[in-house]
Amino acid sequence: MQADFWLERWEQKQIGFHEEEINSHLQNFWRKLKLPANSKIFVPLCGKSKDILWLLAQGYQVLAVELSPIAVEEFFTENHLEAQITEHKEFQCWKSENLTIYQGDFFNLNSNDLADCTAVYDRASMIALPAEMRQKYLQHLKKIVPALSRTLLITLEYDQNVMQGPPFSISENEVQQSFGENSQIERLFSEDIIDKNEQFKKRGLTSLTETAYSISHC
Ligand SMILES: C[S@@+](CC[C@H](N)C(=O)[O-])C[C@H]1O[C@@H](n2cnc3c(N)ncnc32)[C@H](O)[C@@H]1O
Repeated sequence: MQADFWLERWEQKQIGFHEEEINSHLQNFWRKLKLPANSKIFVPLCGKSKDILWLLAQGYQVLAVELSPIAVEEFFTENHLEAQITEHKEFQCWKSENLTIYQGDFFNLNSNDLADCTAVYDRASMIALPAEMRQKYLQHLKKIVPALSRTLLITLEYDQNVMQGPPFSISENEVQQSFGENSQIERLFSEDIIDKNEQFKKRGLTSLTETAYSISHC
């Protein structure tokens, strides 16, 4: 998925992935990560996700990255947050209390940018990318996120022969293989949600499994 694809989707307001409600798995399972208060959470490929507001309301600091300038601007205006905007390397950096969103390409972040982050929240980020790019995404994520960090990952799994992504299908096997031997992976939730997703039924799917994982990197 090249940058233009996502930039166009934001320009044309084709953002069916955006949820107005706070994600239920985030609310139900975040405490399982057992993070100290005031931890800094990395939210990759954040869109204008309201989940960021929930993390801030719990007292966390949030560092996020998003390619689309439209998404970042809408996040701040729609949530009535004032931003201080500065330049940081290849990024435009939007800051408000306890929140920094880097507007630019995830692949331009380095480990210094994420030095204090102790956890990752991934909803609709990994599944936004096709297989080859997903591998590059994970390699880069592992390089830039400090060791001992924890992840809450939410995936979708379906028959990719019936529908092309995004969102892309990710199996539990892929999660196990991708995060590697030095990670402890716990499946927290798994449910077929096809009946709640008419748009995917119309695209031919008869099953769509949503799964939430907690991942600890040792
Ligand atoms: C499916 S959306 C999910 C957004 C958000 N996580 C959510 O839950 O609403 C994927 C987002 O990733 C952004 N994106 C795609 N490639 C990116 C990249 N290389 N760097 C930063 N953001 C990227 C897109 O602009 C899009 O907003």
